[in-house]
Amino acid sequence: MYIKNLRINWNQQECKEYYNEILSINNLETLDFKKRITFFVGENGSGKSTLLEAIAVKYGFNPEGGSINYNFSTKPTHSSLSELLTLSKGIRSKDGFFLRAESFYNMASYVDDIGIDFEGYGGRSLHEQSHGESFLTLINNRFRGNGLYLLDEPEAALSPQRQLSLLVMINKLVNNNSQFIIATHSPILLGIDDAAIYSFDNDDINQIPYEETESYNITKLFIENREILLKRLMNDSE
Ligand SMILES: Nc1ncnc2c1ncn2[C@@H]1O[C@H](COP(=O)(O)OP(=O)(O)OP(=O)(O)O)[C@@H](O)[C@H]1O
Ligand SMILES: [Mg+2]
Repeated sequence: MYIKNLRINWNQQECKEYYNEILSINNLETLDFKKRITFFVGENGSGKSTLLEAIAVKYGFNPEGGSINYNFSTKPTHSSLSELLTLSKGIRSKDGFFLRAESFYNMASYVDDIGIDFEGYGGRSLHEQSHGESFLTLINNRFRGNGLYLLDEPEAALSPQRQLSLLVMINKLVNNNSQFIIATHSPILLGIDDAAIYSFDNDDINQIPYEETESYNITKLFIENREILLKRLMNDSE
């Protein structure tokens, strides 16, 4: 494990920030990473990206995504939460990447700008591939194992079929001494074996089983009861 635990040193905070309003984060003191794969789940706005970004910045990643030595910034928007974090680390990872669906476009531009050798990126510019293709190209070619990989909603670009491909890639990388922390809403990715799932709902961060995640339950409910559910939703909205 490259990150075993995090602690937030609230006593070092000098003035309140927006993340003090996010209860899951404001109530957090410490979090353990005991499994090779940790998922962050929870409602939109529950604080997953805020915490993942703080972990990434503290570990040395560029806040908008990339590897440790990527250094680009389109907007100085990252929060100061990373300054309050202490990470309890194991051995130093040999590889690493912070991949955010929401700023992937900017990262692809950076890769173009620095005139990188595209060999590691599927042989052509990430901009010349579809969103999903470029996302998987990057993971396939650039994630080399023995690494720490932080992914924010990797499913955003991917078809269900490709999410299954990603699941297989993650599993291979884990077998090659990697650690993942992934914020996701995908009932497919969450189904991977032997992961810890932390829910940011209910004003706290708690570990829950796969079958208790909203992503699983709402997808299952919808598929099994589509017609009844649609009628009820339409009636409620009238
Ligand atoms: N730079 C910022 N300034 C002010 N508020 C912010 C900022 N970034 C995020 N927030 C607020 O913090 C809350 C948590 O946002 P965050 O992006 O961490 O949620 P999330 O759990 O990742 O949601 P999603 O599932 O939609 O990605 C939201 O209410 C959001 O509006
Ligand atoms: Mg988010």
